[in-house]
Amino acid sequence: MLNLKQLRREYQYQPFSRDDLAPNPFDQFVKWFEEAKRVGVMEPNAMVLATATAEGKPSTRTVLLKGVENGGFIFFTNIESRKAKEIGQNPLVSVTFLWLEMTRQITIEGIAELVSKEETSGYFASRPRGSQLGSSASRQDQIIESREILEKRYQELEKKYEGKSIPPPEYWGGYRIIPSRFEFWQGQENRLHDRFQYVLDEGVWQIDRLSP
Ligand SMILES: Cc1cc2nc3c(=O)[nH]c(=O)nc-3n(C[C@H](O)[C@H](O)[C@H](O)COP(=O)(O)O)c2cc1C
Repeated sequence: MLNLKQLRREYQYQPFSRDDLAPNPFDQFVKWFEEAKRVGVMEPNAMVLATATAEGKPSTRTVLLKGVENGGFIFFTNIESRKAKEIGQNPLVSVTFLWLEMTRQITIEGIAELVSKEETSGYFASRPRGSQLGSSASRQDQIIESREILEKRYQELEKKYEGKSIPPPEYWGGYRIIPSRFEFWQGQENRLHDRFQYVLDEGVWQIDRLSP
């Protein structure tokens, strides 16, 4: 149906060696993130989040990173969604940032925990009004009959909150991923890519080069 064996491209962006790495992976992440913004990567904060049930059945989806604070990577979502239910059963998660414009990938593994109500309402208040109404109108993951139902609910809420501030819905919240492993991947020629992992070993970040 689809033969992609000849679809190939050489990767090469910049040489990347051990000397380019910050001792702390959070600093390395910020360095690469700033470069991705400069290069104009579209939505550099989009990350594919993998979660799994207690039995290990995996699922993935994209979410937006909203900050790196207090040793963690923060995103916001519906805390009754599938991802949230899975995190409730099994807090081990992984996220991947794919920046094809730079042939770079960053993978992070860690534990997800809910952020405080104050952090959630603080972020909710900073969102554009349309996004606040959108998330108030939608119960993420519930089956709905039509798009019209969603639009009608949006308009009702728009009227209800006219001239007033919109409170965060009770099902809306944030998670912080506390990493235990990072991997920075830089595409290079002839598939001899550069890979470096940082693994937390008794409180110290151990850095190693991995074979591609
Ligand atoms: C670029 C992009 C950004 C997204 N950002 C978020 C986000 O920050 N939070 C969120 O809940 N869903 C976000 N979504 C939607 C999710 O990918 C997903 O459809 C939704 O959260 C339901 O996931 P779940 O059923 O696995 O819980 C985004 C989707 C895309 C494509």
